[in-house]
This record gives sequence, structure tokens and C-alpha cells, in this order.
Amino acid sequence: MRIAVLPGDGIGKEIVAQAVMVLGRLGLRLEIEEAAVGGAAYDQSGDPLPEATLAAARRADAILFGAVGGPRYDGLPRAKRPEQALLGLRKALGLFANLRPAQVYAELADASALRPEVVAELDILIVRELTGDIYFGQPKGIRQHESGGREGFDTMRYTEAEVRRIAQVAFEAARKRSKRVCSVDKANVLETSQLWREVVTEEAKNYKDVELCHMYVDNCAMQLVREPKQFDVIVTGNMFGDILSDEASMLTGSIGLLPSASLDAQGKGLYEPIHGSAPDIAGKGVANPLATILSAAMMLRYSLGQSAAAQRVEEAVRKALRDGYRTADIYTDGMKKVGTGEMGAAVAQRL
Ligand code: IPM
Ligand code: MG
Repeated sequence: MRIAVLPGDGIGKEIVAQAVMVLGRLGLRLEIEEAAVGGAAYDQSGDPLPEATLAAARRADAILFGAVGGPRYDGLPRAKRPEQALLGLRKALGLFANLRPAQVYAELADASALRPEVVAELDILIVRELTGDIYFGQPKGIRQHESGGREGFDTMRYTEAEVRRIAQVAFEAARKRSKRVCSVDKANVLETSQLWREVVTEEAKNYKDVELCHMYVDNCAMQLVREPKQFDVIVTGNMFGDILSDEASMLTGSIGLLPSASLDAQGKGLYEPIHGSAPDIAGKGVANPLATILSAAMMLRYSLGQSAAAQRVEEAVRKALRDGYRTADIYTDGMKKVGTGEMGAAVAQRL
């Protein structure tokens, strides 16, 4: 099993190192190839996604990704920005299905900004379409407007085929859970969303055992904090999914806990924490490595066919939390406050 490891920028290096260490303790035969990506790659070669990195990602059975970006790179032209590496990998590898689970560990129900009873035992899965929508739709740009001054524009678009395949991923996932899908759009305003809704409704006919509902994205944003447990699987487009998944992460107490998988049609995937590079705490050894360790567990399950090993990792994370280990982002009084390396070690010891 060959894994491409792309740590990236900011806390990316620290958290990925812990995930790789945990993977190394499982007694599996893993071949690891590390490559630079994002700002780190730009610094080395002037390109946030060098050909060699893309080649390593293509060769691998799965990709473990840290995070990219930082204030140093904010002034660069769009094509050179670290975020382009991630968007480029998603597009080049056809990673259209982004799975973002948000689970509240019983031990951490207090860490949420919401009342514990609102979030206790929450378990939702956001299925976000990842290679279409306004992120990639053409035309986009900044141009001179007739009225003088400039105009910025992006294009939201989805083909029927793109909507259908992400709907299928959501329905299949729901079958393994509590069999409910909520499709989120803005069909009261957007043509793209109207087509989205029609296609998802059609596709639902092939999944009669799954209950489908539709919700407008503004309402969904509100319902997620009002009564999050009403949701099981949420399926939505690239942009709405980006926003709603950050919101959902805070239900769990910290964005530092949420893993993600981005899969192609064959199940090959890129695995990354949903949080970013956190430049403010980079290099201090305080970042929470759990989202990345849990992403490695998703990788074992979805791309490497190692579900028993995945379970061992997830169980070890649970035990470390149960035993009171907390990084700063989830720390509450009376717990053991630890840094990145100690948290990784606490998980490794409990495998
Ligand atoms: C995410 C991130 C990315 C996105 C950025 C870094 C391009 O916010 O993975 O959610 O918008 O998709
Ligand atoms: Mg995001």
C-alpha cells in the first residue's frame, strides 16, 4: 500500500507527523512517499502543486494531506496561491465526493458552544460535491466593466451527471446509517439549484429505502445550530458544503477534531483534516493532531481496505479522550493539557 504524504504549510507538518507515526504502529506494510505542496512547494519551486507532487499523488493508493496556506502567500496571484494546490489535486484526480463526518464524542459534549443535550451523541455526515459548482465554473475573472471600474464574476454550474453521482454517494452512505438524506440547495433563487433538486429527486427513486428531504441552505445553516440531531446525511454542492461543514464542525466543540475523505469514482482518496494551516499556532507544538489521525483512519477504511485497523485507531482516539488528554482547543478544567506530540503518543499507546 503506497501512501503519498503531503504535509503542506503551517501546522500541517506537525499534525501529519503524528498521523504517520500512528500509522506506523499498526504493523501494516505501508510505503510512504512524502512531497511538498502549497506554500512549502511554492517556496522550493515557485509552484504550489509541482509536477513531481502530482505524480506522487497519482502513483499512490491514497493521499494523506495536512493543510495549506498562510499570510505570507496571501499577496500572490491566484494561480500561485497554496489553495490552488488543493483545488488542483481535487480536480486532477477527480476527487468529486467529499465526506465530512461530524460526530460528538460523549467525553467532549461540554466543549461545544451549544448546550450538551443539543449535541450529545450527534452523528451527521456531510457529503459535499468537490469538483464542480462556482469553484470551478467558467467563465470567471475580473474584467473592466462598461460603466467604468472593474467587475468580478464567477459562474455557478452543475451538470446532471455531476449531481447524479454525488446523490448516489449520499444515498449509498445513508443506507449504511439511519437511511435519511437531506439535500441542501437554494432552489428558490438559483437555476443550478433547481436542476440539483430535480436530479436528486429523480435519483431517490432508485433508493426507495432512503428518506429524502430538501432544505434551503439558509434554513439548513439555522437548523444546524437549532436542532442538529434532525440530520443524518446532508448532501450539497461545493460552496454550500464548504460553509456548512465548517459550521457543523463547531457543533463538535472544535474544528480540530474533524477528518475528511475526498474520493474518486474508484474509491481512491485524499484524506485531510477539515481545518486549515492555523499559521497563528504553527510551530508551537500545540495543534490538535486528532483530525489528521482520524483522517488516516478514514484512509485505512475507504481506500486501503483496512477497516479493522481503522477501528483500532478510532477506538484509541476515543480512549485518549476518555483518559482526559486534551489539546488547548478542547481543554476544559481538570483535564490533562497536552501538546501535539503528547496527544499523538497518547493515541499510539492506546492502539
Ligand atoms: C476546505 C477549504 C478549501 C475549500 C480551501 C482551502 C480551498 O476551505 O477544504 O473546506 O474551500 O474547499
Ligand atoms: Mg472550507
